[in-house]
Amino acid sequence: MRNFNAILVTGGAGFIGSHVVRKLLSNRPKTKVVNLDALTYAGNLENLRDVESNPRYTFVKGDIQDAALIERLFVEYTFDAVVHLAAESHVDRSIENPMAFLETNILGTATLLNAARSAWANSTGDRCFYHISTDEVYGSLGAKGLFTEETPYDPRSPYSSSKASSDHLVRAWHHTYGLPVVISNCSNNYGAYQFPEKLIPLMIRNIRDERPLPIYGDGINVRDWLWVEDHASAIDVILHEGAEGRTYNIGGLNEWKNIDLVHELIRLVDMALKRTEGSSRKLITFVKDRAGHDFRYAIDASRIESELGWKPSITFEQGLAATVEWYLNNGEWLDSVTSGTYQQYYDTMYGNRG
Ligand code: NAD
Ligand code: DAU
Repeated sequence: MRNFNAILVTGGAGFIGSHVVRKLLSNRPKTKVVNLDALTYAGNLENLRDVESNPRYTFVKGDIQDAALIERLFVEYTFDAVVHLAAESHVDRSIENPMAFLETNILGTATLLNAARSAWANSTGDRCFYHISTDEVYGSLGAKGLFTEETPYDPRSPYSSSKASSDHLVRAWHHTYGLPVVISNCSNNYGAYQFPEKLIPLMIRNIRDERPLPIYGDGINVRDWLWVEDHASAIDVILHEGAEGRTYNIGGLNEWKNIDLVHELIRLVDMALKRTEGSSRKLITFVKDRAGHDFRYAIDASRIESELGWKPSITFEQGLAATVEWYLNNGEWLDSVTSGTYQQYYDTMYGNRG
């Protein structure tokens, strides 16, 4: 078991990062957490209102590509761990504008690796550079099979290839320079504070507002969904107990076809809003498919379960009901993050998909 005094979390104002910051502060009562985030459209300090006055928490606005800033932060806070989540994370945006993904996901990761390497040269005690990655690096599955940690990389979108590149860099810094690293590759997360460009919050919002529900292609693509707080718990366990240099796949053992998931969301939202059951089904609209749309992702998470004792703590039924309730009760959050430039993005993306 490793122990850390000061952890640099990158991308802590985003969806998963905000849950990770909260989890580390509550599970590790002696640890300081510094959240470095550029506050792009996806980062929002509202996601962390409940911890902002915690004396062990500090927020720094900045870009992970800013080498001088990161070097300064390493000197000021003497980090002994980095949990690296900052990224451009939405596949559709990567198809529209790949360069931002290469800059943040590849160059940003390399900048952090260099900073950790030089700050930790000749140091003693526990150190860990933990890189948070995605199952999308393994490519796309057919109807059968699961991604294991040994599955060869086969990324197929600008997003997944930029994440695969960053995974390779992290392993290269480990093998070449001896940087102590761990990597995890996780399936689709859902839960509170997810930016509503992603499937589940987008559908909840559109059902609420009685807007069309855009299903790409024929809706039979499959994703494995994991509750974000379970992902945050897995990250906490891997950071403190994962073997140096090792990779862990994290998944929910919970595969859904997109169309079935949207039907389930319709059922839950209609029920919560006291509408006639299924009345929002009429909103389903099949639109042009995502370019290069990966068919199926599914994870073999047996390594993290057998070696570290982690498995999901709640069922999808529980998690999805809590998630629908959260978005319906936090309409202000949903409306504030979707005002302004998001509306332009929505019109551009979905105007094109009819
Ligand atoms: P997100 O888009 O919600 O948040 C990303 C955060 O990174 C935002 O707060 C943003 O402001 C920040 N950021 C972006 N560019 C930055 C830069 N150059 N410098 C500093 N901060 C920057 O993403 P998420 O869904 O929370 O994903 C977090 C990480 O987890 C990503 O690395 C992603 O690849 C990975 N991941 C996500 C999922 C998922 O289902 N969402 C699944 C597996 C892995
Ligand atoms: O698998 C992990 C990955 O999951 C993460 O690495 C990514 O950061 C995260 O965005 C997510 O990627 P996906 O592309 O799987 O998620 P998204 O929510 O964008 O889409 C889920 C599925 O729903 C996918 O098959 C595309 C489909 N979809 C999505 C949207 C936004 C639709 O049919 N309609 C939509 O409007």
